[in-house]
Amino acid sequence: SGLHALAKSKGKLYFGTATDNSELSDQPYVAILSNSQEFGQLTPANSMKWDATEPSRGQFTFANGDTIANLAKKNGQLLRGEIEIGFFVILSTSVRLIHRLHVGHNCVWYNQLPSWVSNSGFNAATLTSVIQTHCNSWDVVNEPFNDDGTWRTDVFYNTLGTSYVSIALQAARTADPNAKLYINDYNIEGPGAKSTAMQNLIKSLKSQGVPLDGVGLQCHFIVGEVPSGLQQNIQAFANLGVEVAITELDIRMTLPSTPALLAQQQKDYQTVISACEAVEGCVGVTVWDYTDKYSWVPNTFSGQGDACPWDANLQKKAAYNGIVAGF
Ligand code: XIL
Repeated sequence: SGLHALAKSKGKLYFGTATDNSELSDQPYVAILSNSQEFGQLTPANSMKWDATEPSRGQFTFANGDTIANLAKKNGQLLRGEIEIGFFVILSTSVRLIHRLHVGHNCVWYNQLPSWVSNSGFNAATLTSVIQTHCNSWDVVNEPFNDDGTWRTDVFYNTLGTSYVSIALQAARTADPNAKLYINDYNIEGPGAKSTAMQNLIKSLKSQGVPLDGVGLQCHFIVGEVPSGLQQNIQAFANLGVEVAITELDIRMTLPSTPALLAQQQKDYQTVISACEAVEGCVGVTVWDYTDKYSWVPNTFSGQGDACPWDANLQKKAAYNGIVAGF
């Protein structure tokens, strides 16, 4: 038994988790991470991003990304990369893919870009070539939209307009025709302006024949605030003919935690999982690290934390039971 085994028994492809290289010296952590009954898929949280893989133009370093890819391979787990141009994902057990595609989680993303890209002043032709060289990988376009559904005015949009999305997707498809290509974003989980913008982008890309396999809903939620209409919105994405994946699930609370907050968190995890379970086109769920010990939340949202299904002592929380109940 375990979360991945349960997800598979319900027809899903995987239940997985993010992880990071600095965590891999923690043996008890790695033992749970490597339990392929719990986790059938890993996402490198940082080590396949642009700043990690191409810190200087044309200078590629894959060592840290390879470490996680090799661990996944050894454990028989899928790898989900996020390249960083906006947001795309690829699912594969192929380590070779990283080198050919170039980065895992994130190909073109406005964040964690080396300054040689963000402050380059490259013209459109040069930036196109830079993207083509870089995007040999998975979550291809990361976070292209602002919350109101307008485009982020990052270096890609400012130089190339919306065409950077198809440039990145096409480069990734050429690099590995078998990789699944995703666009990934947050605040598109429930209905609203940003979700509508993403659905319109997907329709437009598909009508132009741009390669796109799926959409990633990040699902960085707050306890008690899972968006209403989550399941209907997952269905609306699936109805566009793309896979849907829950790519970065965590549900944070204001610290210190209380029994009431932890009980609500259990319900919220169940709500999210059951929404994915109910929609055939929702193929898998990834938590953004499985334990509060290594969650990104406290470093990013001041005073908040305890967002994961295992606590900081690597013990399962009530949230774990919520996941089980959701499937
Ligand atoms: C986060 C990592 O977890 C942190 O370690 C890093 O400092 C910042 O990035 N959306 C994404 C992920 O697509 O790549 C982000 O990961 C979390 C938000």
